[in-house]
Amino acid sequence: MASINYTDKIPNNVNLANDRALQRALEHWQPHFLDWWKGMGPTDFQTSEVYLRTATSVDADGWATYGAVKMPDYRWGIFLADPVAERKIGFGDNMGQDAWQQVPGEFRSTLRRLIVTQGDTEPASVEQQRLLGHTCPSLYDLRNLFQVNVEEGRHLWAMVYLLHAYFGRDGREEAEELLARHSGDADKPRILKTFNEPISDWLSFFCFTYFTDRDGKYQLKSLAESAFDPLSRTCRFMLTEEAHHMFVGETGIGRVVKRTLEVMKELGTEDPARIRAAGAVDLPLLQKYLNFWCSSSLDLFGSEISSNSASNFANGLKGRPDETQYEDHVLRAAQFKLETPKGVEDVPMLNALNEVMRESYLKDCEIGLKRWNRAIERAGYAFRLALPSPHFRRSIGAWVDAPVTPEGKMVSREEYDKRVHEWIPSAEDRAFVRSLMQRVVEPGKMAGWVAPPERGINNLPVDYEYVKLAA
Ligand SMILES: [Fe+2]
Ligand SMILES: [Fe+2]
Repeated sequence: MASINYTDKIPNNVNLANDRALQRALEHWQPHFLDWWKGMGPTDFQTSEVYLRTATSVDADGWATYGAVKMPDYRWGIFLADPVAERKIGFGDNMGQDAWQQVPGEFRSTLRRLIVTQGDTEPASVEQQRLLGHTCPSLYDLRNLFQVNVEEGRHLWAMVYLLHAYFGRDGREEAEELLARHSGDADKPRILKTFNEPISDWLSFFCFTYFTDRDGKYQLKSLAESAFDPLSRTCRFMLTEEAHHMFVGETGIGRVVKRTLEVMKELGTEDPARIRAAGAVDLPLLQKYLNFWCSSSLDLFGSEISSNSASNFANGLKGRPDETQYEDHVLRAAQFKLETPKGVEDVPMLNALNEVMRESYLKDCEIGLKRWNRAIERAGYAFRLALPSPHFRRSIGAWVDAPVTPEGKMVSREEYDKRVHEWIPSAEDRAFVRSLMQRVVEPGKMAGWVAPPERGINNLPVDYEYVKLAA
């Protein structure tokens, strides 16, 4: 087989052509990636032409090009944000020292683990979403799904580049394992639980891109602070793409709300049964989906008390998102008031960093809710969507299995079990949502449960043929 010319095939700004050993290692991995894409990526659309954005540089204005591409021909590139001259470590016990251009021996296995855990989520989400294309509500949405999918593929490339370039043989083995674990696989599941939940309907997809991709944003932000400079630069560029994934979630849910309000107005009712009969998602049902995906994503930040996150911070491996906004970057003397089921405890701030991150994540989550609620208010309804309490339905940490309502009230286990399907989707709710998932592929047409977007992609009209389906 002819060897692949990476400098032609793979856009990169890491001088791949000058590092033959690395180039060969990636050449070896590349066909495995493509096999994985064809076997585990979106089913049945591999020969369709999709209007996709491809990263081609890291210029703030003009970092991507747009055009029709068959997904297996997507040019998955390797890009690091431009280096910051004489960058210093911005937090932890080594604050002020030079950032690392190589991996320090003592942090090798921890850094590798951090990169593998992040890397594992990228292909996992593609696997979770692989069947969604069949029930797309429009070509516009189908294109957005595939855009997210190919970019998660590129994020996998980004992490695999780091593993290959900086972690020797262990890194190459980990890169293979990233293709061997699969979402929901009984024997070899993905590392984090949320990434093993199937995403079988588009309401879940919008919630996933709103909540779970936003967790990704916060993880990337904290890794962008890392003293290990190549990791920092990699994550900074990934954040550029990540913004679109959350846009898909926020506007997706917003369009569901908009359509539901139209149906409520048309029928002159707030009765969920009548709204469902008209083929729309009633707001209490949407609230259940928000509760499910928000609580599931909150677990991704880890336990409230974590000695790992304390040492990762102290050692400079992983900071807080937007570290510069804080005053104290060492935290050796700081305390944190942590809410637990037994009451408020004073704990060392260093050990509570997962909780600090979770709090800033939740603030970011509020932005969409405000926007959706404004639409509901303007339509004249009293109903309001809300984020669930961070203590609701947690499956790790201080609140694991505590019978807490989405409003944050502790109830008896019996009451919780009895009422749980007032709060998260029941089998019946899910079946109803699935029943709405009818494929719509005429350019510009939308499924009945979601309003059209306000504008198309890259200044094209909404009715542009964003995906040319293969005959
Ligand atoms: Fe990603
Ligand atoms: Fe993403």
